[in-house]
Amino acid sequence: MRTYYCNEINESKIDTEVQVCGWVNKIRDHGGVIFIDLRDIKGLVQIIVNPDDKNLFSLAESIRSEFIISVTGKPRSRPKGSENLKINSGKVEIVSSSISLLSRAETPPFQFDDDVNEDSRLKYRVHDLKSMKMQKNLIARSNVVNIIRSYLSKLDFLEIETPILTKATPEGARDYLVPSRVNQGEFYALPQSPQLFKQMLMMSGYEKYYQIAKCFRDEDLRADRQPEFTQLDLEISFTSQSEIISLIENLFEKIFNEILQIKIDLPIQKISYHDAMDRFGSDRPDMRIPFEIKNISEIVKDSDFKVFSKPASENGQKVSALCIPSAAKLSRKDIDNYTDMAISKGSQGLAYIKCNDVNDIEGGLQSPIIKFLDKHTIEKILKNLGALDGDIIFFSAGPDSLVNNVLGSLRCKIAEDKDLVKDDWKFVWITDFPMFDYDKETKKWKCLHHPFTMPVFDNIKDINIMPNSLLSKSYDLVLNGTELGGGSIRINDIDIQNEVFKVLGLTEEEINNQFGFFINSMKYGCPPHGGIAFGLDRIIMLLTKSNSIREVIAFPKTQTASCSLTNAPASISKDQMRELGLKNKEKE
Ligand code: AMO
Ligand code: AMP
Repeated sequence: MRTYYCNEINESKIDTEVQVCGWVNKIRDHGGVIFIDLRDIKGLVQIIVNPDDKNLFSLAESIRSEFIISVTGKPRSRPKGSENLKINSGKVEIVSSSISLLSRAETPPFQFDDDVNEDSRLKYRVHDLKSMKMQKNLIARSNVVNIIRSYLSKLDFLEIETPILTKATPEGARDYLVPSRVNQGEFYALPQSPQLFKQMLMMSGYEKYYQIAKCFRDEDLRADRQPEFTQLDLEISFTSQSEIISLIENLFEKIFNEILQIKIDLPIQKISYHDAMDRFGSDRPDMRIPFEIKNISEIVKDSDFKVFSKPASENGQKVSALCIPSAAKLSRKDIDNYTDMAISKGSQGLAYIKCNDVNDIEGGLQSPIIKFLDKHTIEKILKNLGALDGDIIFFSAGPDSLVNNVLGSLRCKIAEDKDLVKDDWKFVWITDFPMFDYDKETKKWKCLHHPFTMPVFDNIKDINIMPNSLLSKSYDLVLNGTELGGGSIRINDIDIQNEVFKVLGLTEEEINNQFGFFINSMKYGCPPHGGIAFGLDRIIMLLTKSNSIREVIAFPKTQTASCSLTNAPASISKDQMRELGLKNKEKE
């Protein structure tokens, strides 16, 4: 139907006959000449309709925004001064000789450049997706997937699909369940990830697997979490952590180079989980923020200030400080707000020192705590933090997890409030996660990654004797404070796997019911293997500088896990309920 896309119409096409088609982006009547901005998936071109052809002109007069038309005509140069250099076709315009109306359209629910709320955008998603911004995002997404496929297939990876109707795959969220009609009272679970299947493919000898995989997790939603999302999932046999890391670094180098023409610095920095928590209060630190937390327990453990000396000398507790450059001018109100934030997280307070003159300990510092600290200790703190005139230092004392939470959040909040986050791309690998974490509420151990991650141990008995001090062979990739992906070297030995299940409190029967098929498969041989999975939506969100993954998913769900376009989830008929053997919840 077309000879060219709109953005291909340029000076080289002048005076040749061309045919274009697409959507009417804008239509204006300028004193007897009608101007149409025509839009297709590649861009825009300006169409001119002259009044001399009466039929053509009256057809053009009936055209409205978002009508779909096809236009034949000849491009000519635009008059001097009316060029639009922002678009590829901006030096020319097509003088139309015929127009076909392919589809009429009702007045659109909103204009793309209006400040439209997200509810309307999701309800009228088909219209919303016509915007150049959404088209740019989805084109970027498709391009990234193409880069991934071409990169991995050249390295002999096989793309293998795994089931959607399956058994639970534990990744820490609730499952989405599908009732079975044939086996009444039984349910399929939708996969939280293809984890168990990709490991079984390794047992089957496929060696290098990948998949652009749909995953489903019923969990609290946020800007970077959807109930249904996409992973780049991969797994490799006979591999090592460093091999996986360099495979992924080269992939990201390619993606950033091809999509943004940006060269990322390799190798990407690696920080252990412990150091990340101590220095940034988070296992997904935003490395664009130019200041970090310092543990000052050693300096204050012998001071007379009990608020500091007590936690500084106790196991599992600490005192840390955050020195923020050139922020001594923070107002009383700012400091009160940050203190409220610390208290809301469970802290007793938030001590601070405003450094007006670091060389004048007696007169140059403003702080509610210096009266409790001796001069020598203050000097040591200032020196250790590298504090300069004009800086402010915040302190948090207490249990490690509380201090990390308080100062980690404060670091991000002040950086955001004071516009201190550098415009940059900062990757970091977080490695050596603890294998287990004790959940005080359920009084049970749980895995920081998943139960198929290989723990680091000398003696297999240690797994159950000292779960609190075991690390695992795991790694996460973080970009600008967002966790892009995570993976690990896997357990490939039944005894180790069973020990891990035991720490989690699973009985033999539970292990058998939930993972019997997996353990049985392992009995027939399991090569050493490892892998990783990335949130594809998150990668595209960051690449397109979007503020939510909903901006890079064609048909996303709302915060309440529903679809405003189709109204899913929806109730089903009584017949369907009966067929599935389901009963409506009794009315209370
Ligand atoms: P994990 O649970 O860390 O690991 O998930 C991997 C990556 O998937 C993305 N992600 C999400 N994206 C959008 N919405 C969600 N609800 C959501 N949940 C997770 C994140 C995350 O880093 N099987 C393991 C991987 C492995 O060990 O190979 C797994 O799924 O970007
Ligand atoms: P207090 O002795 O309780 O009056 O506290 C003196 C100062 O220390 C105040 O500025 C408090 O905000 C601060 N503070 C108290 N507890 C903590 C804590 N756990 N961490 C950091 N600062 C604290």
